Amino acid sequence: MLLDTLYRAIRPVLFQMDPETAHERTFGGLGVARVLAESAGLRPDPILARDVGPLRFSGPVGLAAGLDKNGVAVRTWDALGFGAIELGTVTGHAQPGNERPRLFRLVEERAIINRMGFNNLGADALAGELRALRAAGHWPAHAPVGANLGKSKVVPNEDAVADYLVSLAALRGLADYFVVNVSSPNTPGLRALQEKEPLERLLGAVVPAAAGTPVFLKLAPDLEDDALIEAVGVAIEAGCAGILATNTTLSRPGTTGRLSQAGGLSGAPLAPLAHAKIGVVVRAAAGRVPVVGIGGVSTADDVLALLRLGCAATQLYTAFIYGGPALVSGIHAELATRARAAGGLDALIATA
Ligand SMILES: Cc1cc2nc3c(=O)[nH]c(=O)nc-3n(C[C@H](O)[C@H](O)[C@H](O)COP(=O)(O)O)c2cc1C
Repeated sequence: MLLDTLYRAIRPVLFQMDPETAHERTFGGLGVARVLAESAGLRPDPILARDVGPLRFSGPVGLAAGLDKNGVAVRTWDALGFGAIELGTVTGHAQPGNERPRLFRLVEERAIINRMGFNNLGADALAGELRALRAAGHWPAHAPVGANLGKSKVVPNEDAVADYLVSLAALRGLADYFVVNVSSPNTPGLRALQEKEPLERLLGAVVPAAAGTPVFLKLAPDLEDDALIEAVGVAIEAGCAGILATNTTLSRPGTTGRLSQAGGLSGAPLAPLAHAKIGVVVRAAAGRVPVVGIGGVSTADDVLALLRLGCAATQLYTAFIYGGPALVSGIHAELATRARAAGGLDALIATA
């Protein structure tokens, strides 16, 4: 496919660049990718639609948060065939994030280490993008669009609830779902909000303020099993629509140690840890709310492994950097072929 051929041609050039410069240049070309993708018809086969609580993903692979923090390329993600599109993390205040360099590729490991620190233009700016999309009639017809919310760095943890509510007030009525992100490792103190009392306070305020829009909770893979189980209980009690697991890890499983940068690790080496923690989360949720599995997904088999663990759907980020714009439609196409042969996606999931 033309899109794939183009990406294979430019990837070596992009990978010569500093990762963040490559990211910025790629965003410049996303409009072209959209036009090519629109003509190629990459949206998922309807056999792949998945119910994720009150949402319906058009396919089991969604875009994970962090790639499009400011919501500038929603139409491209839709055209590339993502089953759902998560924007952000945005914060109440616009903020520059940490000093560069803050994004590192581990090419051999097909991994990334990042310590971006929620660089974003703020919830108001995202609201502007979403309003414009809706006004122009360009809202994706089948892929739900979520807004992932975090805490501004300048706001102390004691005032975190108010900061999340600022973002929520800006975005209310504009996103199909919200995610409360308390699991990114690069904002000092953020992950302490995963503990029982702060989490109860936070979700107890955010869920009612979302006024019926589903709220999901995103958890870290570095929590002990007991803490994960407790957080899932708090989320269900507070009325969350589901759990996203996992974010990046501060641990360094399976990496050579060649790149000992500080920050969160994602991609292939995260997968075993993420799968173990997702299993804990799925068992704790016990079918009461859906779980979206994240961490090192890069193939149809990875997706199936997570669906077989009991996840309702999956998301990916890092594999997109290595696999390029045709990756997700390729995974969905393979799953659709296998689902048809098995008599449906649920039947395929059921066959070990
Ligand atoms: C560069 C980078 C930035 C990220 N930014 C965010 C973010 O802003 N909010 C968030 O919830 N997760 C963020 N993530 C985490 C991803 O959404 C995902 O949970 C994690 O990378 C694991 O999935 P993967 O192995 O498919 O990348 C980021 C990941 C990367 C690599």
